[in-house]
Amino acid sequence: MEIKAIRGFNDILPEEIGMWQFVERTAREVFEGFGFSEIRIPVLERTELFARGIGEATDIVEKEMYSFLDRSGHSLTLRPEATASMARAYLEHQLHAFDPVAKLYSIGPMFRYERPQKGRYRQFHQIDAEVFGVGNPMVDAEVILMLLHFLKKVGIGRLELQINSLGCRACRPRYREELKTFLMKRSFQLCEDCQRRLETNPLRIFDCKVETCQETIADAPKVTDFLCEECILHFNKVKEYLEMAGLDYILNPKMVRGLDYYTRTAFEVVSYQLGSQNAVTGGGRYDNLFQEIGGLDIPGIGFAIGMERLIALLSKDKKFIPHPSLFIAALNGEAQREAYRLANQLHLEGIRAELDYEGKSLKSQMRKADKLKARFVLILGEEELKKGRPILRNMEDKSQEEIPMENLLGILKDKILRD
Ligand code: HAM
Repeated sequence: MEIKAIRGFNDILPEEIGMWQFVERTAREVFEGFGFSEIRIPVLERTELFARGIGEATDIVEKEMYSFLDRSGHSLTLRPEATASMARAYLEHQLHAFDPVAKLYSIGPMFRYERPQKGRYRQFHQIDAEVFGVGNPMVDAEVILMLLHFLKKVGIGRLELQINSLGCRACRPRYREELKTFLMKRSFQLCEDCQRRLETNPLRIFDCKVETCQETIADAPKVTDFLCEECILHFNKVKEYLEMAGLDYILNPKMVRGLDYYTRTAFEVVSYQLGSQNAVTGGGRYDNLFQEIGGLDIPGIGFAIGMERLIALLSKDKKFIPHPSLFIAALNGEAQREAYRLANQLHLEGIRAELDYEGKSLKSQMRKADKLKARFVLILGEEELKKGRPILRNMEDKSQEEIPMENLLGILKDKILRD
């Protein structure tokens, strides 16, 4: 039986890779321009990091992690997100000793055992950016500005920025209690999972997709009505800085995000072109995460962009599909040797040239050049070789010209690199 890929794990094929490379290249350019440096973290971590970082009573930790015991009996987990790992690395390597402020980004695969559907996979990719060590609301607005600038640069419009404040250790417990009391009275309308969540983590009920739960929570008290003075001040400043940067936003008091580490600012960027899995990016502030994973009292804020969802929004632009600059159609043994020599020289110059390895007819080689969408074809037939003048055909305007063999490489380079 043919072996197939695991459900929810996708191949990214050569015809799609141009788009991925373009997105990654743009992220690096934009983020580095904002003073961020790349960090690469392992895909496997101790389970405890995510259990403590993301929170035991979240869907991710309760149901979605790929966890297993290694051969020494340690519980390990394929990372479901990058923030906790980046915080661990910052602490472990004492990056704060050099400068407490670190602006870091990371790109790579994440793993969650969710039910696969369009826009939701079990292996997916994130572009993640984090600022550690700054509590100032100016940075909240700055990372959002960087994110929206990046999304604009890759060519995505018609997005909506939604923001909320989730309060802090001082004010959230009171909100949690208020929410719990409200929901207790209506618990018979909640699904089984949410009845359990009511005890363990009532805020998570906002994320439930069950219709009756959504209806029940619709009139629930709003977190923003329970913020303490400092959280109100922080949120007002974030809004002020966003306005200063000319950014539009929508207040969404129901957006609580699926991870427990958030404090104060939470945000999402959604696209209505995406269907039910419409969040392209999620992020927020997490001023207690470092303490949760056993570290210092360090504030942090960041976001993660879902690459599959982002790429689904990009137009399938032709320029991302790599085509050969030249196809060398060679007919006999001697011409083939010449084609091989020439192709190698061009490759060393970084010019993509293709040739036929199977001794096919000229007609079939021209068909192949056409299929590959080569920009030029160099025809090296017996006649051309005898005359020492191969023919260069421009596949776009169909014009042809003879090229002297003596300076073939120079002329080809000139033509190919010129247009
Ligand atoms: P998240 O909301 O869980 O946040 O994920 C961020 C983004 O990753 C989502 O908006 C979505 O685009 C994408 N994503 C999540 N799960 C899947 C999936 N199963 N299939 C495809 N795409 C998916 C975090 O992961 C936080 N670490 C973000 C963050 C960084 N907060 C602060 N810093």
